[in-house]
Amino acid sequence: MTTARRTPLVQQVAVLILCVATPALLADGHSGSDPEEVELRMPGPWGDYSEAMEDPDAVDADAAYVGHRRHRMQLLSGYYRSLEMALRYDAPVDPETIARLAEGLERHGQDIPALFDRETPTGEDEPGALARIWEEQEHFQEHMNNFAARTRDLQRAIPQSPAEADDDWEPRATEVLNGVRHQCLACHDTFRRR
Ligand code: HEC
Repeated sequence: MTTARRTPLVQQVAVLILCVATPALLADGHSGSDPEEVELRMPGPWGDYSEAMEDPDAVDADAAYVGHRRHRMQLLSGYYRSLEMALRYDAPVDPETIARLAEGLERHGQDIPALFDRETPTGEDEPGALARIWEEQEHFQEHMNNFAARTRDLQRAIPQSPAEADDDWEPRATEVLNGVRHQCLACHDTFRRR
């Protein structure tokens, strides 16, 4: 969890004095109420900003990998949801942009295998990746392959030039998008605990 805020000047000066007085304060992560949090200062042309964040020294490589994986899934979701607003809900977005987003979805989909290279199942009763991913690797691979195939279908369903764009291309592309969504839901249903 991170929170961003602009630190008032008086507080900035106080923090500065404290830091000078006890240089180990931030490094030890004992600056906030949560001992695992540190305050990162980011001065710059727009003023002095700071952000509270988990102490990098307290986060091991597996936890960082899982965190990275979840953000990458959210990125995939961002591509999917923005395409959905354009295709299903007719947001006024030009076909070139839609084609670029479909390409992004497909490209990001290619990275899914690397997100599960490391065996990092979630703990009992916690939401996240199930151990089944690493126990049934062929089955998981099949889901990844199917997802990749549907994202390629979507790219093909989007006109590459205005000449290819007939009146019905959007409802057709939306149908193909439904096929992509089916793959998201099926993989989650089998390999993810919510
Ligand atoms: C081949 C399997 C697979 C496919 C396909 C897949 N996901 Fe996931 N997704 C997972 C797994 C497994 C997790 C749990 C990862 C974890 O918590 O470590 C996950 C987690 C997520 C999360 C939660 C991330 C978080 O912050 O905890 C979102 C959102 C998500 N997926 C969206 C999507 C969308 C949208 C699609 C389709 C466009 C998709 N996923 C396709 C396997 C898949």
